[in-house]
Amino acid sequence: MISRTPYRTLSGTSRLAGVMGWPVSHSKSPRLHGYWLAKYGIDGCYMPLPVEPDNFQDALKSLRNLGFSGVNVTIPQKEMAMPECDELSNRARRIGAVNTVTFAKDGRMLGDNTDGFGFIENLCQEAPNIDFASGPAVVLGAGGASRAVLIALLDEGSPEIRIANRTRKRAEDLATEINDPRINVVNWPLDPASLADAALVVNTTSLGMVGQPKLEIDLEGLPQTALVTDIVYAPLITDLLAQAKKRGNQVVDGLGMLLHQARPGFHRWFGIDPEVTPELREFVLLPD
Ligand code: ATR
Repeated sequence: MISRTPYRTLSGTSRLAGVMGWPVSHSKSPRLHGYWLAKYGIDGCYMPLPVEPDNFQDALKSLRNLGFSGVNVTIPQKEMAMPECDELSNRARRIGAVNTVTFAKDGRMLGDNTDGFGFIENLCQEAPNIDFASGPAVVLGAGGASRAVLIALLDEGSPEIRIANRTRKRAEDLATEINDPRINVVNWPLDPASLADAALVVNTTSLGMVGQPKLEIDLEGLPQTALVTDIVYAPLITDLLAQAKKRGNQVVDGLGMLLHQARPGFHRWFGIDPEVTPELREFVLLPD
């Protein structure tokens, strides 16, 4: 008798989701969600959806009309998704961008941003003793990723956040907009004093990524107890992390942020809060 197992196919009631972006070919999300769908034996599909920015609004509505459960939205469409949503989560509104859209049964589009969640969950999984309230955080960069990280750290009770950005004005504008007295803009490059009593250092810039310039930073004076993390995950161990590790600081790489940020969408669309495991990390990093 023929067995269904090697021929597992979609059914007439498969749940559909995907990632929209332009380009989208670099996205690890189809592989990541595909792994979870297979692991949990879910009748569903998660696909790459290359959509040019000009077609974004139409595409989003079409996916809803096609019966999709939801989509992830990536660069450059994270901001474009905001006005399209009928409802925004508090964190999406505060971050000013949407990365997870769920199509409700009544046709409403619900926008969320799970980047800050992914950032925090990654640190909590990899450094279970982390106490975000234990000391100042130093955040490098003032782009979209920085904004999600800042809001998440504030929500976790960080007592002070120092932002340093090449373009100081951008950091100042971000601080003004978030309007929390715990945020202070400091010099770029960093003065050693900015690191002296830090509990956490986060790189949210693209520096250190494959093909990008190196992040030049002097960690002299950073307490040994400080945790250093990078949202760059290609390479997995950036120069920043290697430098920090060498001097004895605990480090957490950025891959987990990508994996954890995907959990809320998968949970809503496919009904299971999936696990981030060492095997998943390995699987996502396998060459194409
Ligand atoms: P994302 O949404 O991923 O955060 P972004 O908004 O383009 O991307 O932000 C990129 C960040 O990396 C910014 O903080 C940027 O600094 P500027 O605001 O001065 O542009 C930082 N960055 C990129 N290239 C850099 C470089 N060569 N030197 C210093 N900072 C750099």
